[in-house]
Amino acid sequence: MSVLITGGAGFIGSHTAVEFMNAGYDVVIMDNFSNSKPVVLDRIKEITGKDFKFYKADLLDAAALDRIFEENPEIDSCIHFAGLKAVGESVSMPIEYYHNNVTGSLILCDSMRRHGVKTIVFSSSATVYGAPDEVPIKESARVGNATNPYGETKVMIERILKDIYVSDKEWNISVLRYFNPVGAHASGLIGEDPNGIPNNLMPYITKVALGKLPQLSVFGNDYDTHDGTGVRDYIHVVDLAKAHLKALEYIKSAHGIDYFNIGTGNGYSVLDMVKAYEQVTGLKVNYKIVGRRPGDVASCYADPSKAERVLGWKAEYGIVEMCRDANRWQTKNPNGYDS
Ligand code: UD1
Repeated sequence: MSVLITGGAGFIGSHTAVEFMNAGYDVVIMDNFSNSKPVVLDRIKEITGKDFKFYKADLLDAAALDRIFEENPEIDSCIHFAGLKAVGESVSMPIEYYHNNVTGSLILCDSMRRHGVKTIVFSSSATVYGAPDEVPIKESARVGNATNPYGETKVMIERILKDIYVSDKEWNISVLRYFNPVGAHASGLIGEDPNGIPNNLMPYITKVALGKLPQLSVFGNDYDTHDGTGVRDYIHVVDLAKAHLKALEYIKSAHGIDYFNIGTGNGYSVLDMVKAYEQVTGLKVNYKIVGRRPGDVASCYADPSKAERVLGWKAEYGIVEMCRDANRWQTKNPNGYDS
């Protein structure tokens, strides 16, 4: 029994590979390194003390996927992360985003089906809820109206997976809707390494705190939240990785298709995060308030009770561990994997 992890060299994929290997799974990783580095693979081996098979391959390359399944007939499930994920870039490059994410997922599912592999955990996002009607968000909330092409690709892939299940009940499909993944492995060996200037809050804060960027721009302080800045549900990436283990084990025995919010259920504002980071690390995070970022919502946090009830999964780490581990990763790797 072995699990194929697409995008397994990425931020969430690499942490998930570690958790699966620690749990005794054989893992096969594929990645095209479009937003990750080969050294990640060495780090995964260093953390786990275990080896695994790796394929440098692109999801759009059907022949490469077929070869992976043919050479590894023990693969019986897939954790699917591979995809483009920068919101702003998706607005300027919609063709690339729809093609990579949607076509790539179709090619993967087709190859899986032809090789009799019908169990998949899909990396979705809270972005599928668009601007939520109410918080905390339950899985039953309206899906659709994502505010950008990246989000739409997640909505579309969820829809495709549902239709695949409707057509063939042998599929086991678990869809995980992540809230805001942050933090890093406690070893400081793997973490988030965005290309260029980060779009997301936490990697931006870590770089400001270490003097790599001059100042954080806080996008708006006139939202209807406790301090006016945007509220999100930050989730430690190791907790998130562990949710994939639970989701796979569950869907293999329960069968069918199911959806889970993966968050802590706690909403923190931008300024809460800045203050927590300063307190935990003792570093100063310079910031200034600027205008709102288009497409942002005031408040987005999960009702994660279904994951606890059905999967037996609950976030173990809080904001202190998130800040501590993000800072450890950034300090040990000031230039990310190029350090
Ligand atoms: C973003 C994406 C979401 C994606 C998620 C992945 C948008 C609109 N949404 O979520 O689709 O799934 O990342 O992690 O981009 N902020 C600042 N200054 C910054 C950066 C962020 O004030 O330099 C604020 C934002 O306005 C927001 C909060 O910090 O209130 C979190 O932002 P971010 O980390 O980008 O995540 P989301 O926007 O929630």
